Amino acid sequence: MTAYKIQEHKYDMIVVGAGGAGLRATFGLAQKGLKTACLTKVFPTRSHTVAAQGGISAALGNMGEDDWRFHFYDTIKGSDWLGDQDAIEYMCREAIPAIIELEHQGVPFSRTEDGRIYQRPFGGMTTHYGKGIAQRTCAAADRTGHAILHTLYQQSLAHKAQFFIEYFALDLIMDEEGACKGVLALDMAEGTLHLFRAHGVVLATGGYGRAYFSATSAHTCTGDGGGMALRAGLGMQDMEFVQFHPTGIYGAGCLITEGVRGEGGILRNSNGERFMERYAPNAKDLASRDVVSRSMTIEIREGRGVGPHKDHINLDLTHLDPKDIHEKLPGIAESAKIFAGVDVEKEPIPVIPTVHYNMGGIPTNYHGEVVQLRDGNPDAVVQGLYAIGEAACVSVHGANRLGSNSLLDLVVFGRAVANRCAETIQSGAPHKDLKSSACDQSLANFDRLRNAKGSMPTAEIRNNMQRAMQADAAVFRTGETLAEGVAKVREIHASFADVRVSDRSLVWNSDLIETLELQNLLGQALTTIVSAENRTESRGAHAREDFPERDDANWHKHTVCWADDAGNTRIDYRPVHMYTLSDDVEVVPPKPRVY
Ligand code: FUM
Repeated sequence: MTAYKIQEHKYDMIVVGAGGAGLRATFGLAQKGLKTACLTKVFPTRSHTVAAQGGISAALGNMGEDDWRFHFYDTIKGSDWLGDQDAIEYMCREAIPAIIELEHQGVPFSRTEDGRIYQRPFGGMTTHYGKGIAQRTCAAADRTGHAILHTLYQQSLAHKAQFFIEYFALDLIMDEEGACKGVLALDMAEGTLHLFRAHGVVLATGGYGRAYFSATSAHTCTGDGGGMALRAGLGMQDMEFVQFHPTGIYGAGCLITEGVRGEGGILRNSNGERFMERYAPNAKDLASRDVVSRSMTIEIREGRGVGPHKDHINLDLTHLDPKDIHEKLPGIAESAKIFAGVDVEKEPIPVIPTVHYNMGGIPTNYHGEVVQLRDGNPDAVVQGLYAIGEAACVSVHGANRLGSNSLLDLVVFGRAVANRCAETIQSGAPHKDLKSSACDQSLANFDRLRNAKGSMPTAEIRNNMQRAMQADAAVFRTGETLAEGVAKVREIHASFADVRVSDRSLVWNSDLIETLELQNLLGQALTTIVSAENRTESRGAHAREDFPERDDANWHKHTVCWADDAGNTRIDYRPVHMYTLSDDVEVVPPKPRVY
């Protein structure tokens, strides 16, 4: 093996990832006086949060009556009762100060006539526990993520956080007691290796949407944090729950925000029918995403899809006032023109359910501390390791996330982790010596892949994985398709031993980086499909045609799935937290979920 020289850096805290969650944590930690560095594989303002469109939820009540308890109820119902109710309470209550903070920090929200933050309706967001439609989603036109990300980056710089940009995190460095002590990373521009020692490492690396063939996620969404966690021997939670956004542009996969339906857009089948009235008589087009995606899929299957192949659905905005489109939805009008050749004032946008979000991830408590099942304790904290945002499973989204709860999750838990670390970590505390072999396993993996001389190019294995996941871990699943999918993904995972990397360089070696990313994706594809085959019920985004009902007696529990490098998997369970943090809100017991 090549002898690699490693440069060492010491910080109080390291954040990996510079999307909304990573930046909120970075500036919060720096603001609290902890010496903080953020490592990111892309320039911070190119992180995938930049693509979030429709908005961020908080019961501000700027456009009608609202209450954070209504938001709490909606999120539990949206999660199909798999969400942890303590964490959901924390998120919905903290949403209000978190948004006001963002406003004060400079996020350019759209405004009402009287100058307050503009809020639009989004799917599954109601008032009075399902009786009315809430306008709860705070928006900066249809570029809310962009506005938030830029503000958070500016705040991080203002608080003197240090950035290591275009650094690819390779592995967590754990000590013999199982505590996290740092991260090994590659500076992609210089080709040098760096060990970042820290008292705490926050994984804010986003989701793994690119395990699928067609996703709204950026090509960078390769679940690097989840990959590192699996290699560190940690289990991943609720991976079977993958959200399909109802309105990805047909053929291109780009997102058309749910805000379009919030502003009055309507889904129509080949008869021009507003079919959602049949599936969700109250919420109609604003039912939760899993419900809308399944309804669209049924319409297509039953021959009422549109287009020459009858394989997609129309999203109709032609009845909306063009002034509203220009003011509130300028970005999607542009995307529809560029990616579908459609003038939204005259023609409908062709759309199809498209992979959008991973509800599953690295399990944490509501402080952002990573937890594992250990010695009979389902909530044992992994010292020194934190996860936030889409990389994590807190679990506030349970089996299905409500639109606009994702940007909220990023800022609330980014802030929570900063607060927690300020309480528990002492700035400038000395770093204990690490064993000289601490990085050996990671270096061996890195060196093996850098010199991989197998017969299969990275792109071929990735394509095989993406097609298998798209076909077999889809909107609707059966025991048969999942068994076939598990067999295929196991074989594809094993084929990674035969990968070929052609470029041996350490500097700007995209072949090597894509191979490291593929390794991260493969672990998550495997845990996703294995967890999906195992769960014999339908809940939220996991719709089994052979088990069409939710089965609370047997399945009201979180899946935890481990996978090692050889592809061996193991499954266990954690209980759902059915308790709240305070007396002013009560647990919502499971009941039928209708919209
Ligand atoms: O539809 C959207 O604008 C997406 C929002 C979200 O995923 O939260």
